[in-house]
Amino acid sequence: MNFTVKHFADEEAFMEKVGYPELRVHTGVHKSLLARVTEYNNEFQKTGKLSDAFFMFLKTWLKAHICGVDAKYGLFSKQHHAA
Ligand SMILES: [Fe+2]
Repeated sequence: MNFTVKHFADEEAFMEKVGYPELRVHTGVHKSLLARVTEYNNEFQKTGKLSDAFFMFLKTWLKAHICGVDAKYGLFSKQHHAA
């Protein structure tokens, strides 16, 4: 949880620094992901177990968000802030 919060904050700071135009949308996606992670964490705290749904969520997050949504700001940064 702590890593996720810090990671999202770092990403958002970077996107703001490079003037990424989709920052607000991306931040909204982060909030939604964080809400779901919090729910799974609460479930884990109660039961000591992580459901199959959690691992499906994690797989989707890693594939769709990092490889899709996050890659877009990386590309924007390269195109607009090339050295
Ligand atoms: Fe992200």
